[in-house]
Amino acid sequence: MSTEQPAPQRAAVLKGLGTWLPRRAVSNEELSARLDTSDEWIRSRTGIRQRFWAEPGTATSDLAVEAGARALKSAGATGADAVVLATTTPDHPCPATAPAVAARLGLGTVPAFDVSAVCAGFVYATATAAGLITAGIAERVLVIGAETYSSILNPEDRTTSVIFGDGAGAVVLEAGGADEPGALLGFDLGSDGSHPDLITVPAGGSRQRLSDTEPDPADAYFRMQGKPVFTHAVTRMGQSSTALLEKIGWEKESVDRFVGHQANVRILHSLADLLGIDRERAVVNLDRVGNTSAASIPLALGDAVADGRITAGDRVVLSAFGGGLAWGSTALVWPDITTA
Ligand code: UT7
Repeated sequence: MSTEQPAPQRAAVLKGLGTWLPRRAVSNEELSARLDTSDEWIRSRTGIRQRFWAEPGTATSDLAVEAGARALKSAGATGADAVVLATTTPDHPCPATAPAVAARLGLGTVPAFDVSAVCAGFVYATATAAGLITAGIAERVLVIGAETYSSILNPEDRTTSVIFGDGAGAVVLEAGGADEPGALLGFDLGSDGSHPDLITVPAGGSRQRLSDTEPDPADAYFRMQGKPVFTHAVTRMGQSSTALLEKIGWEKESVDRFVGHQANVRILHSLADLLGIDRERAVVNLDRVGNTSAASIPLALGDAVADGRITAGDRVVLSAFGGGLAWGSTALVWPDITTA
């Protein structure tokens, strides 16, 4: 009879976290001065009081490089074996943004590619990176969620302009054991492509070409049907996080922090109620940064770690939802790391 312990299962372990926001804060008052809206409407309907917008000339890769460099520093790493970048607002429709980010970070000729899953992008990118690690293809992967939504917002559309912001957040995942703090313990991912028009940029792809004879300029901007999206967001993030908890064997009551996609404080509170956890356990930072789509979860993690809402040893669930429709959840015991 052998007394040897079996080696812990290989897992992707979170080792570093970095965030970056453009300098310019845009208040509700500033938007109310040019759109038919008000600070009262925006705060009461969404919980948002400001967002950050990049100056024209600043692209998604510029934000991604800053967040990526900080995540590597936080992990004490100078290199990575791959870069996975989640974004809805790439620098260009072609090529992907990740190779430029990898090059600018001095990571050499590592594999680098974009993941397109709108606001669920960060969880999808994290799952992809975890797959590279658990398959033995990579030892360390830089995962970035970065957005410059200000570049696709219709300045005349109050329903989207007041909600979305720019920013970037990144994590470093390294190969380790499933029993280590920081190990990603499982994933629940899903999509429902039968509602493609609820969140869309209609033109600029192969379906509605920019070369169409009479293009409508408004079709090149982002659109969202807020009300039905709200309902889908609560349902799908609720189902996904519940399925994940069952998969990894955590009781709902044992969740210390729920980090949901920062779309609307009413959605986050509904999810806390649905999971049966105190609303205070739902991390909220959308009041400060708005909805930053693929950057939303790492930016929320960054704020929560910085102000002590998340500390080492906390059981943390991440859950995201967005256009596609697409959603996903993962969970980890928070590691003892310093963020940058
Ligand atoms: O990130 C991807 C996932 N996204 C989400 O999960 C977003 C989910 N949706 C939401 O968060 C909410 O639906 C919104 C915040 C987008 C909108 O809130 P709502 O309570 O669903 O408002 P609504 O769209 O039903 O609009 C209510 C009213 C309408 O006026 P009428 O028809 O009642 O006269 C809108 O025209 O509010 C009006 N409205 C506004 N009023 C002032 C819409 N946008 C604004 C605005 N300022 N910015």
